[in-house]
Amino acid sequence: MKYFIDTANMDEIREINEWGVLAGVTTNPSLVAKEKGISFHDRLVEICELVGGPVSGEVISLEADGMIEEGRELAKLHEHIIVKIPMTEEGMKAVKVLSGEGIKTNVTLVFNTVQALTAARAGATYVSPFIGRLDDIGLTGLDLIGDIKHIFTVHGIDTEIIAASIRNESHIHGSAMAGADIATIPYKVLKKLTQHPLTDKGIDKFLEDWNSIKDQ
Ligand code: E4P
Repeated sequence: MKYFIDTANMDEIREINEWGVLAGVTTNPSLVAKEKGISFHDRLVEICELVGGPVSGEVISLEADGMIEEGRELAKLHEHIIVKIPMTEEGMKAVKVLSGEGIKTNVTLVFNTVQALTAARAGATYVSPFIGRLDDIGLTGLDLIGDIKHIFTVHGIDTEIIAASIRNESHIHGSAMAGADIATIPYKVLKKLTQHPLTDKGIDKFLEDWNSIKDQ
């Protein structure tokens, strides 16, 4: 499973990119709205040039024609752009047209297996099932990742699964175990991925032992 970062913030992307673990970036209108005074298109290009992997930028239109027009504009910005499209009937029409033109798409706001299968059949390059938002309504979001993986495997579908709406390290463990191709992870959760109390304790002990003999 690869790691994407789920943000439009350059400082966060730069910092995590230095670890060498970032394969791509996802944004959405809520994340872009947090970045005051930026041009959405300029920011997408900036991210593409830094990360050198797939970068999802979402359309705003709700009608297929508008999504297609926005998707074509986004795709022209950079070769790494992935056009993010909501899981609706209009969205499926847009995915069909854009994928037919060789433009890659990420179908977002996926909350069950049939939405994922439908997006894949329309030609989506990626589907984004939202784990955390399912947990928020009392369901087990991680079950969806395994179920989509099973269906895609049984039916020979190569659409990639992006585990989205990740809230904690258990979501990352569970997504990897369930066979997600990618997890798109918020900065705050990524910052926890190197941490374990026994690692800190081990470093302290190694240094203590080293310091006890260094002057011998
Ligand atoms: C991913 O593509 C989505 O934008 C994101 O993971 C949504 O996460 P949230 O439910 O924390 O807003």
